[in-house]
Amino acid sequence: MRTLDDLDVKGRRVLVRADLNVPLDGETITDDGRIRASVPTISTLLERGAKVVVCAHLGRPKGKVNPEYSLAPVAARLGELLGQDVAFASDVVGDSARSTVEALQDGQVALLENLRYEPGEESKDDAVRGEFAARLAGLAELYVGDGFGAVHRRHASVYDVPRLLPHAAGGLVVAEVEVLRKLTKSPERPYVVVLGGAKVSDKLGVIANLLTKVDRLLIGGGMAYTFLKAQGHEVGRSLLQEDQLDQVRGFLDEAARRGVELVLPVDVLAAVTFAADAEHDVVEATAIPADREGLDIGPKTRELFAAKLADARTVFWNGPMGVFEFEAFSGGTRAVAEALIAGDAFTVVGGGDSAAAVRKLELSEDGFSHISTGGGASLEYLEGKTLPGLAALED
Ligand code: 3PG
Ligand code: MG
Repeated sequence: MRTLDDLDVKGRRVLVRADLNVPLDGETITDDGRIRASVPTISTLLERGAKVVVCAHLGRPKGKVNPEYSLAPVAARLGELLGQDVAFASDVVGDSARSTVEALQDGQVALLENLRYEPGEESKDDAVRGEFAARLAGLAELYVGDGFGAVHRRHASVYDVPRLLPHAAGGLVVAEVEVLRKLTKSPERPYVVVLGGAKVSDKLGVIANLLTKVDRLLIGGGMAYTFLKAQGHEVGRSLLQEDQLDQVRGFLDEAARRGVELVLPVDVLAAVTFAADAEHDVVEATAIPADREGLDIGPKTRELFAAKLADARTVFWNGPMGVFEFEAFSGGTRAVAEALIAGDAFTVVGGGDSAAAVRKLELSEDGFSHISTGGGASLEYLEGKTLPGLAALED
């Protein structure tokens, strides 16, 4: 993969695909992690005298202009972090984009409006996507792929534009890929993976692949209840994916056959309802009352998971252990994070909600070897899939 050092950017217009898909509360950015992670590549290009045109998506506006998904607040925050003005184009490839880009001097930067306002960005039709990609590519002379969190999407800005312009991978993509490569090629053992989050159906591919690679697999969060049910336990009103029970039984058998230690919760916080202040009790994972729902792993499980992480040499963690957004149900997620921080393993936090949880719970980001900016992307990488955005950069 070519890197920034392989491009001569001085005086040239460089289109940077970044992942600036941050959570917003109205127009307030509630976690700017992805914007901060995008700064080094953009700064490097600016220092080298490029005219930088950043493009990115926000949320899923599905091909329509929708002010709720405007990147305007992101432009402002990016400007603060870069310490210089970010010109903001009010469209993606229209009059505003063209005039904003034309006005750029060497060392100046612009951000285009949300790529997903344009139906061509995500179109499944190669011709439609290609036509939009050509207009986007027409704004610049060079392309830098740095939106790691979106490299698993076969979208115009990720997959088609690098075919139209001389291109390189940005520093963030290089760093993310290096870490994931370390996990897939001869990880130091014991190699332990912790998975959580709501749905087991989102993680089928990665679980199947990880069962051939890891020494231990710890499962918490909403998806744990489908595993408990598959073992024959009642889970009350907890999250359950009935249609995944056969799959999950297959995973339990496969783990046993391969000698992979698959560790499930032994106790849970069972609440009367899904609410921040819900009345709840600690119950055995094998005895969840019919009218309760599990919202976090319990204290015995926190200790069990910490013990299973203590001697690990390599850890990948994706997905919270409970509803960490509610203080009362954040203890499991916090305990896993603290166990990772306390150990001296090579620790990777796999993006998305787990990365957000680390920051929300005000844990030290320095306590982890790497916090990925891509949840879906890192899972698909570990699943062994070809990621369109990386393949396009390799060519
Ligand atoms: C993410 O938030 O995981 C990335 O920005 C990709 O967004 P998407 O899942 O909407 O494609
Ligand atoms: Mg540590």
